[in-house]
Amino acid sequence: MKNITLIVAMEQEALPLIQRLQLLNVSRADARLPFNVYCGGYKTLNVCLMSHGIDRVHKVPCVGTQAATLVTMEAIRCYQPDLIINAGTCGAFAAKGSAVGQVYMGERIRFYDRRIPLGDYKTYGEGHYPCPEGVTLARAINLPLAVVCTGNSLDMSPTDEAILRQEPVVAKEMEAGAVAWVASLYSVPVVAIKAVTDLVDHPVAAPEQFSHNLQRAAENLCHPVIALLDELSRR
Ligand code: ADE
Repeated sequence: MKNITLIVAMEQEALPLIQRLQLLNVSRADARLPFNVYCGGYKTLNVCLMSHGIDRVHKVPCVGTQAATLVTMEAIRCYQPDLIINAGTCGAFAAKGSAVGQVYMGERIRFYDRRIPLGDYKTYGEGHYPCPEGVTLARAINLPLAVVCTGNSLDMSPTDEAILRQEPVVAKEMEAGAVAWVASLYSVPVVAIKAVTDLVDHPVAAPEQFSHNLQRAAENLCHPVIALLDELSRR
């Protein structure tokens, strides 16, 4: 394992990692795309971090599965990763024992909002990407596991909630399913590591909790991501 690509949607999520790993901004392969690319060495590894960049029209960070699909394609084509780490933030259920700041490793990645109740389209819509490397690495660095559940909404409809509640521990987020799908086409393994910014069953709305806790969650990601890189560099 030599080339590791981190895909992190928002610059605010990525910044503590970029600083801690002393990664340098490099020019992107295709300047028409909004992504930012940071590269550097860490121990025996070549590390490249891609963030989604800023939407040209709305001037906000690009989040969600469309940008994640494109950035993953670009990452694989330009940097030939041996492993993709999708790092970022998530919502979680207090009722399932989660707390703000907790960091989870994905044991499996699925979509929760692609409901196509029509034969095999059901499981196609849900995705269900197993993450065996994530399970092994989580054991090695002592991280708890969650089912990473991807959708394109920060809030949660009653239907979404019923589906999410059926899973054991949940990391509700907006990119991993898309990253896992593209990576599966190229047979690149993916792990997802997510820090909780908000409790989706808390009376305070998720967007408010998210804004309040984003910085802390981003900082909490650093230690386990670096432990992951340490572990990978020993392999
Ligand atoms: N990222 C952080 N919190 C989230 C939530 N509640 N839903 C989707 N993505 C998130």
